[in-house]
Amino acid sequence: MLNPTTNQSTNRPTQTNPNSDLDFLNQIKTLDEALTNYFAHTLTVDNCLTRKLVSFQANKNRNYYRWYKYKEAFSADLVEYLIKKYPLKTGKILDPFAGAGTTLFACSALGYDAEGIEVLPVGQKIIEANILARSEYKEEIITGLERWLGQKPWNTDGETKKFEILRITNGAYSQETHQKIQRYLYEIENENNALKEILLFVLLCVLESISYTRKDGQYLRWDYRSERKGVRSTFDKGKILSFDDAINQKIKELKNDIPLQDKKQDLFSLLEPEKKAGKVNLLKGSCLEISPNLDSNHYSGIITSPPYCNRYDYTRTYALEHAILGITEPELIELRQAMVSCTVESKAKKILEINPTWKTAIESCNHQELLQAITKYLDYKRNKKELNNNGIYRMVKNYFYEMACIIQECYRVLKKDGLIFMVNDNVRYAGAVISIDTILSKIAEDIGFKIENILILPQGKGNSSQQMGKHGRQVVRKCIYIWKK
Ligand SMILES: C[S@@+](CC[C@H](N)C(=O)[O-])C[C@H]1O[C@@H](n2cnc3c(N)ncnc32)[C@H](O)[C@@H]1O
Repeated sequence: MLNPTTNQSTNRPTQTNPNSDLDFLNQIKTLDEALTNYFAHTLTVDNCLTRKLVSFQANKNRNYYRWYKYKEAFSADLVEYLIKKYPLKTGKILDPFAGAGTTLFACSALGYDAEGIEVLPVGQKIIEANILARSEYKEEIITGLERWLGQKPWNTDGETKKFEILRITNGAYSQETHQKIQRYLYEIENENNALKEILLFVLLCVLESISYTRKDGQYLRWDYRSERKGVRSTFDKGKILSFDDAINQKIKELKNDIPLQDKKQDLFSLLEPEKKAGKVNLLKGSCLEISPNLDSNHYSGIITSPPYCNRYDYTRTYALEHAILGITEPELIELRQAMVSCTVESKAKKILEINPTWKTAIESCNHQELLQAITKYLDYKRNKKELNNNGIYRMVKNYFYEMACIIQECYRVLKKDGLIFMVNDNVRYAGAVISIDTILSKIAEDIGFKIENILILPQGKGNSSQQMGKHGRQVVRKCIYIWKK
């Protein structure tokens, strides 16, 4: 077996004590090339993996999946593509980072039972609404939606229900829209639980479109029309929908979609007509807390996409939704901290206190020369005050340690021969490309997985304009890892 810690082309050992940017970057490059060579037999460009397929975009034309635009989702088509390419044994599928539940519903439609863990209330609500829309309550939901379309109770006079306003959501709507949201929230309280949940979900689906904000990865971007104090923006988000238009459209969309089978699955002919959809179960909370309690050797497959190590702050971008769901300022901070470290504000978690057996995962990280070289470099740049945010060092380091623990749990809960599919992006900080794909694959291998494939998207991504300006353009891989127990 090749030693991934020496430069394969020169066989020159890597420098141990770099003391300049160039030394550090050369060391990282050498170790990175060695690890890439080590996994060369598994790294393949898959031309079917378009950016559309590996993002929410391909969901836009599929009923159910198109309702809530979860920007960080992958598509149901992708799940179907992967299962067709690497058939999974019958049984239960897990997604420890369930998001909007794409894995859960796509697998269920193919006859698998599916279980998802999601920490954010917005994702949980999307999944719960989708479970209801496919349940025995669907007839009464359709009737209720028709009634709401006819009566438009939010336009009648009556009482209102106030909702939480967070510091970062203050001023997000025009006064008229704000008033209608409050009236709508009051009226849905009179409905039975199933319809109430669906109507609340409908509201979540339209919040961005009726607000002065746009989700922009790390934060909410404010439109110049907002009356929010201190906003001096020139950003024009385009048409801001009226409450009536947005709610009407969305209710119609649900009402029309619910009676239909999602058409796509027929194309793949994976499910015989008489085969029943699998059960979907949601576990609410952090997978770091929940996964240690899952049964060993239980799941046939895992299809997942963790948050990327890219500073995206879901708690900020989904703040409008969380405010409507009654999440307070301190609760939002707690949620940010419960997520896998992916923002510069994430603090280290006491992972060994959660589960002492994660020593194995931690040891694997401690012995990963490339990972150690990267974190030393980021620490060195932080000490020189040359990172554009000091939290980047901590985020990158903790991201790997936490992901290693999750990978160890994934290994434990999978059945023998079970597969894990993981979608993730490489990143770049301070000029160093961080090969999340090969580093996590090495950790997975140390834990016991066989690395089947690292499928590369033909179209990589450039990374931020700041980085490109400073360090020149370099394509950063986006991949799907396939590991077997
Ligand atoms: C890339 S998104 C997954 C999207 C999903 N594949 C879909 O199609 O909707 C990552 C998800 O992981 C969730 N997440 C982050 N940290 C988590 C944790 N510790 N436990 C459970 N979920 C977490 C985020 O809230 C987010 O919804």
